[in-house]
Amino acid sequence: MNSNEIRDLFNRIAPVYDQLNRSLSLGQHKIWKLMTVKWSGAKPGDRCLDVCCGSGDIALLLAERVGQMGAVTGVDFAVEQLAIAGQRNPAITWVEGDALALPFADASFDAVTMGYGLRNVTDIPQALKELYRVLKPGATAAVLDFNHTQNPLVKAFQNWYLEAIVVSTATRFGMTDEYAYIAPSLERFPTGETQVNLAKQVGFSTVTHYPIAGGTMGVLVAQK
Ligand SMILES: C[S@@+](CC[C@H](N)C(=O)[O-])C[C@H]1O[C@@H](n2cnc3c(N)ncnc32)[C@H](O)[C@@H]1O
Repeated sequence: MNSNEIRDLFNRIAPVYDQLNRSLSLGQHKIWKLMTVKWSGAKPGDRCLDVCCGSGDIALLLAERVGQMGAVTGVDFAVEQLAIAGQRNPAITWVEGDALALPFADASFDAVTMGYGLRNVTDIPQALKELYRVLKPGATAAVLDFNHTQNPLVKAFQNWYLEAIVVSTATRFGMTDEYAYIAPSLERFPTGETQVNLAKQVGFSTVTHYPIAGGTMGVLVAQK
């Protein structure tokens, strides 16, 4: 899929996206998103950015963490997702923009998060380069996504889950094709180890990939 097709897909699924996520993860995705916010090192008073924010889940959690003295921006290129995000929290700054060319100055954020975005961008090294560029020196990016595992048992579980549960649930919402793309996108997605190397190549100094949720998900934590 090219960038326009990816944007169209996320615009189309916007009306059902939150409800589907809740059903598909049995509510667990909220916990993984909270872990991501925690690992980003965001603290009260910070200026934070959530890239590929979609309908805003992680940005909302960041806003709770930074409090009244802090500021949160969410950026995404799908306007239908941003419209829902804006209804959920009008105090957050929602920006239409491309993760591959972020519309922000160098070194402008104390922490950056990204949830289920890196697997969807068309150029992963460029996306990591942009996360690095907009972070202040010493600040951290935390990137949550499915984990491209090498463990055969976890892989078998993921495949079963994606084929039997995700696609059939999405079908009930009339979104079969829209969710069938997850399995091939995960197959193409770099493993945690490769993600660590890619992050180091764009300049991050300390980088770790943490498998979570029994190894089915992963969080890349990269410090500038
Ligand atoms: C699976 S959703 C994740 C949304 C949200 N972060 C979450 O965890 O619920 C992926 C999001 O990435 C956005 N996206 C993909 N490629 C992008 C790009 N190049 N620039 C900006 N947004 C992008 C899509 O529009 C979509 O909203």
